[in-house]
Amino acid sequence: MSKRRRVIAANWKMYKTPEHAREFIASLLPAASGHERDEIVLCPPFTCIPAVVDALKGTGIFVGGQNMHWENEGAYTGEISAPMLVAGGCSHVIIGHSERRQYFGETDDTVNLKLRSALAAGLKPIVCVGEVIQEREAGLTEDVLRRQCSVAFREISGGEAIPMAIAYEPVWAIGTGKTATPEMASAAHEIIRSEAEEVFGIGVAGQMRILYGGSVKPENVKALMAQPEIDGALVGGASLDPKSFAAIVKYQV
Ligand code: PGA
Repeated sequence: MSKRRRVIAANWKMYKTPEHAREFIASLLPAASGHERDEIVLCPPFTCIPAVVDALKGTGIFVGGQNMHWENEGAYTGEISAPMLVAGGCSHVIIGHSERRQYFGETDDTVNLKLRSALAAGLKPIVCVGEVIQEREAGLTEDVLRRQCSVAFREISGGEAIPMAIAYEPVWAIGTGKTATPEMASAAHEIIRSEAEEVFGIGVAGQMRILYGGSVKPENVKALMAQPEIDGALVGGASLDPKSFAAIVKYQV
């Protein structure tokens, strides 16, 4: 068992209205009673944040954004900043999700800018890294993970880094039903932790949570969480249904 408090985060992506979000939480809360063991985070679309923050008051479940801009304010039409997320009641934010890298031009450098801005605002970032299938097949997984992490970590001190979590999300496993085996995930997590050790030192790296994401569901969560290197999960598709997300939250190892 990991000595780090696990994080189970729901990434709703571009799904749900405020009304759907309220319905989801009304079903989740009784189904996930006793959820206090881990850090549970819901990351809804921006337009649902007020409803989700309101419905989760007093539950101990956290709310996160799915993306943010690195500037605090400015002429950036359509963007949301870290202080705006904080003011809206968010404590967490997902940064560098592969869908943002793939469809919206997110780069390792913008991930770094966003990460620094999120930490400065007091948010707990969940930074996504992971290889595409061609990189895995070419034996480049380690190179890709080390590059994504080393650029993301630039100009961040060890003291600042502790609240950050990394989500290892092999791109070929996202939304495909294909999951990395617990052993594959664990091997990737070791690479990420070793990169964090080089940059921040063993003490800080040992406190950072490394989550797995990519087709996590009630059927496979237990085997994944049994790995000491896996400190939680970032859940997409299976987080949209309150019963399946509650079953994930309540995994037993
Ligand atoms: P998935 O998505 O669980 O639907 O594979 C995970 C993610 O994109 O964070």
